[in-house]
Amino acid sequence: MTYNTITVDRVTPHLGAMISGVDITGPLSNSQVEELHKALADHLVLFFRDQRFTPDSQKRFGRLFGELHTHPNTPGIPGHPEVMPIHADANSKRVAGEWWHSDVSCDPEPPLGSILYLHTVPPCGGDTLFASMYAAYDALSPRMKAYLDGLTAFHSGERLYRRTNRLLNIDDTGRVFPSAVHPVVRTHPVTGRKALFVNRTFTYRINELPDDESDGVLSFLYDHAEKPDFQVRFRWEPHSVAFWDNRSAQHLAIWDYFPQVRSGMRVTIKGDAPY
Ligand code: SIN
Repeated sequence: MTYNTITVDRVTPHLGAMISGVDITGPLSNSQVEELHKALADHLVLFFRDQRFTPDSQKRFGRLFGELHTHPNTPGIPGHPEVMPIHADANSKRVAGEWWHSDVSCDPEPPLGSILYLHTVPPCGGDTLFASMYAAYDALSPRMKAYLDGLTAFHSGERLYRRTNRLLNIDDTGRVFPSAVHPVVRTHPVTGRKALFVNRTFTYRINELPDDESDGVLSFLYDHAEKPDFQVRFRWEPHSVAFWDNRSAQHLAIWDYFPQVRSGMRVTIKGDAPY
């Protein structure tokens, strides 16, 4: 499709587009906002360079796509509960997004998308990988698609958030983290396309199968979804932004730069219950 108010350069056939010719930190015209919505639907993850977000301007940009989400485990930066810090340095014991996932898929209404701004990046490394769950679904055999049709999976934040809190010495005794049942294959509410919706971080089991069969099928689906064929890899520069659609893409943050600093903030947009 053609765009008139933004420049869209595709990065891979399946997903990823570099967006230029627009300052997303300031006011945007209705046409620019409409074209950014279209670009997100077409390309699943949008990359921007040289955007200097403040917490307020990042929230303002996020609100053009929906209400903002507050993370169920990681507190926001002071004064901005919806702005999640993303930070790693020589003292870090973990980083956000170390395994493939769709953000907070354990929520009954998982986030529509996330906008990550990094102001500080390591000299090299710290890339983020994104994978198209449309491409992963499309590449399954007709037999496997028929088998998965109608199956549901249990997702929970317990495993990830308790681990995070343990490593950070945070006492989370008595806290209950979100969990939800979602279809294994979801339909994107904007494009109508089918996407695989299970991930290594939050999915525990497929409800309609015996445990050993569920383990085997999930293991196959994770390996399949993580194939390089369905991926794009983003190399960060200071003041870059990545805006991804959690309904159609998964991502993974590579922590290969310890003890260097990588720092910024994420704004996440609320979504709907998958169907
Ligand atoms: C995340 O939001 O999962 C972290 C992504 C990143 O730091 O690249």
